[in-house]
Amino acid sequence: MTHLLDWQYLTDAQWQQSIERALYFAQNRRPESILKGKSIGLLFFNSSLRTRTSMELAAHELGAFASTLNVGQGTWGFAFGNEPMFGGEAEHIEEAIGVLSRYYDALGVRLFASFQDYDADKAEVKMNTILNASAKPVINLESAFYHPCQALADAATITQHFNGNPQGKKFVLSWAPHPKALPMAVPNSALLQAARLGMEVVVARPETHALDADIMALARSYGANVTETDNQQEAFEGAEVIYAKAWGGALSYTNPTMEEYFRRQNGNWTITEEKMKLTQEAAFMHCLPVRRDVVVDTAVLKSANAIHLNQAEFRLHAQKAILERLMIKG
Ligand code: CP
Repeated sequence: MTHLLDWQYLTDAQWQQSIERALYFAQNRRPESILKGKSIGLLFFNSSLRTRTSMELAAHELGAFASTLNVGQGTWGFAFGNEPMFGGEAEHIEEAIGVLSRYYDALGVRLFASFQDYDADKAEVKMNTILNASAKPVINLESAFYHPCQALADAATITQHFNGNPQGKKFVLSWAPHPKALPMAVPNSALLQAARLGMEVVVARPETHALDADIMALARSYGANVTETDNQQEAFEGAEVIYAKAWGGALSYTNPTMEEYFRRQNGNWTITEEKMKLTQEAAFMHCLPVRRDVVVDTAVLKSANAIHLNQAEFRLHAQKAILERLMIKG
């Protein structure tokens, strides 16, 4: 059985075919009901606007039934550990997933980083517990390190933007300020998809906010030119895509005081119109939600080069491709 934890576990052919199917579904919004009679259960440990609605709608438009559970809001609390369950959680996640996977044909789970244990988050310990407990395919709706639904939507958006030829185009993943330390799932996935598309990738981030070295190495393993710099202005020069995202760095992952100190040193990393003028008319991308005039100037979001809403729309098309892959092709 195939789960979708991250695209690195699927072949290049499966990745390419999924992009093509996302582009197909963008042109064929309501195709034949290829999932008629099937069902998917969506379990959210964290908030969502896009992922929840686009996944429910993707299932509906392919003929499947979808239901959503928000953990702690009408469900029991779930324990993950091996210790006796005297705490507030009434049910172990292995029973919960075991039951749900007997009801539904597939599951989707969102479970963000803990920021408590870097190695456990990197190893996706909690998400792997869920995958191992499930008798049916599980789609990662954003875990500690990966957001494969966002990655496929991003890849399809970029492929469409460059008329099918993103190879060699300059893609800059730029760190941006934010009031909170955010997980690395989106930047990791954005980096990996751009590298796998064969783009020229630059990760622009303060020295204190480097991404994980193994993720950088994985991106380079796709054969793309992947560099990193703490010089945002230099990175923007000649860029054809600016992908903005805030994230908490690996360096201060379990130390919020240190992370906040580092973050406040770099308040001038906001994406501005002036910085966008350094680029080659770059498309502006962001996974959303985005904080206006903190992460990026409102003027950039309202500019003709902003494609963040196309990107969000592609979540719907990309997730149809994912549902088809996991629930039909296996
Ligand atoms: N980009 C994204 O995953 O959006 P939501 O958090 O709203 O689902």
